[in-house]
Amino acid sequence: MCGIVGAIGNLDYKSFLTGGLKKLDYRGYDSAGLAFWNNGKISLYRAVGSVENLASIVPDGHAGTAGIAHTRWATHGGVTVDNAHPQRSWDKKVYLVHNGVIDNYKELRAWLAGTGCQFRSDTDTEVIASVIAYFLQEGESPLNSIRKTMEKLDGSYALAILFTGQEGLYFAKNKSPLVIGQGDSRLNCLGSDYAPILDYCSNFAALEDRTYGYMTENSIVAYRNGKNLALRFATKDREDYVYDLAGYPHFMMKEIHEGAGVVRKNVEACFDRAKGTYLFDSKLISDLKAADEIVFLGCGSSHYSSEAAAAYFNRHGLRAASYIASEWIHGVYPHLKNPYYVLISQSGETADLISCLDLIEKGAKTLGIVNSKDSTIARRTNHVLYIGAGLEVAVASTKSFLGQMALMMLLCGAISEDASVPESLLAAASSVDDVVERSEEIDALAEGIVEVHDAFFVGRGMDFFAGEESSLKLKEISYVHSEAYPGGELKHGPIALIEEGTPVFAFAGNPDISKQIRSNVEELKARGATPYIVAAETCAKEGDAFVYRFVDRDFAPFPEVAFGQLLSYFLSLRRGLNVDKPRNLAKSVTVN
Ligand code: AGP
Repeated sequence: MCGIVGAIGNLDYKSFLTGGLKKLDYRGYDSAGLAFWNNGKISLYRAVGSVENLASIVPDGHAGTAGIAHTRWATHGGVTVDNAHPQRSWDKKVYLVHNGVIDNYKELRAWLAGTGCQFRSDTDTEVIASVIAYFLQEGESPLNSIRKTMEKLDGSYALAILFTGQEGLYFAKNKSPLVIGQGDSRLNCLGSDYAPILDYCSNFAALEDRTYGYMTENSIVAYRNGKNLALRFATKDREDYVYDLAGYPHFMMKEIHEGAGVVRKNVEACFDRAKGTYLFDSKLISDLKAADEIVFLGCGSSHYSSEAAAAYFNRHGLRAASYIASEWIHGVYPHLKNPYYVLISQSGETADLISCLDLIEKGAKTLGIVNSKDSTIARRTNHVLYIGAGLEVAVASTKSFLGQMALMMLLCGAISEDASVPESLLAAASSVDDVVERSEEIDALAEGIVEVHDAFFVGRGMDFFAGEESSLKLKEISYVHSEAYPGGELKHGPIALIEEGTPVFAFAGNPDISKQIRSNVEELKARGATPYIVAAETCAKEGDAFVYRFVDRDFAPFPEVAFGQLLSYFLSLRRGLNVDKPRNLAKSVTVN
């Protein structure tokens, strides 16, 4: 969602700030802005639309010794220049950028309006700037004004703040990520993630909740609960943040090509093939074995990968269930004596999932299965396993989905002492490679459905989860309405939606149940649907739309999802859409 970058020290600020915003733009945004501090004066530039629009209104060679910038994904107020960040206080003393949502901003706005404060925007962010300005007017220092403002704010925020007439780049953080970077000399930076500041800094610290402070070009000072805080800085592996198309036309295509490699990487990291033993921490495995239930929590694609994993755990006789994080927080679920919570997330910053962590009983065991290193979920879970997919830029998850499934299946193999899992995964990775190499065949199928309004994905058993994920991909980037149903459920209602020519993609990866899914397809065909059967070679029949290389039936979702990813990609392109940055969506969903 929104992105923040800022710095103080010796820099070409226009290029640093707009370049930094470009590195954050994969998170999704609808307007952008920046502010420079120069000799006590602040210049503000904001634009609706792309970072390029913003860059076009900022003069080159702008002198400045500090700057903050932001990409906004609208939450409070429409997409307008007035609502873009930086927001400033009504007296123009405080300029700030904000990620997060202030729950009590209406009350604060009413209170400030009573003191004569006037507002130019509809945002909760302008309210924060004006509360800080209120305390400044009361005679408080900038730092105390921030501390007192934090006492008044309910909600989530990562803030980068500049004060007119006061040197220093100030910051505050609660429930939204903010990282600080130390440059080599006369430079310090901050960002909502590492990507925009990685090339400028050598050491990094992720801030904990309720931290606030300021930086100059030579120092960084942080506080929590009014006490000085020693930040723990560490270096970062640049490989985890490579932002490069590597010759591909889109990040999504590049990332689809990387999917099989991520599966192999997980096998290598978790299993010693020479010895035939798993390499997981033995305490983690014994704790998972001892749990009365393994509770998977995730959102979107991360939920679908954990649904497949939970089914796989069940097949191995392990008690496991998968829940949508934003529902689990409201749900009434069986009381468990000794649950083990496994939180699945590509970004590690998904607010709905972090809310689960806030509710999980103290002392309960938690494992994060995460892609982004040192993200909030990685830091807040007792144990973390990284899927090692590298930076995923396209909004639609692809390689991280395959990596998540692979890692959870390996975990299942270790718990249930099933040493066949790695081999099955390697076969699945080869099958994925084969699907990807045959992209053109999938593009030809996409060409045939360019004009459709609705599509269905059906499957049974593990194939159904591949249908769910493929259907989500299709919705996200091609804007075609799509439903995923277990084959047997269609006749209980959804079949009413089938019209002449409705495309139905049916996954058949399990020879034991492929007969049933084929009969479901016949029922749909009889009502006018155009079926496309995507089958494993072991259950393929003449006339199937796409036949993939055999994998163990439980691993069929790997090639099937690769098929769904490519179909969605080509359909999106053929419909002239923005594959990597679909409308209304953000890569990292940091609001509830
Ligand atoms: C997937 O293509 C989506 N963009 C989305 O559903 C995503 O999986 C979801 O928002 C969860 O994100 P996370 O894995 O970063 O927690």
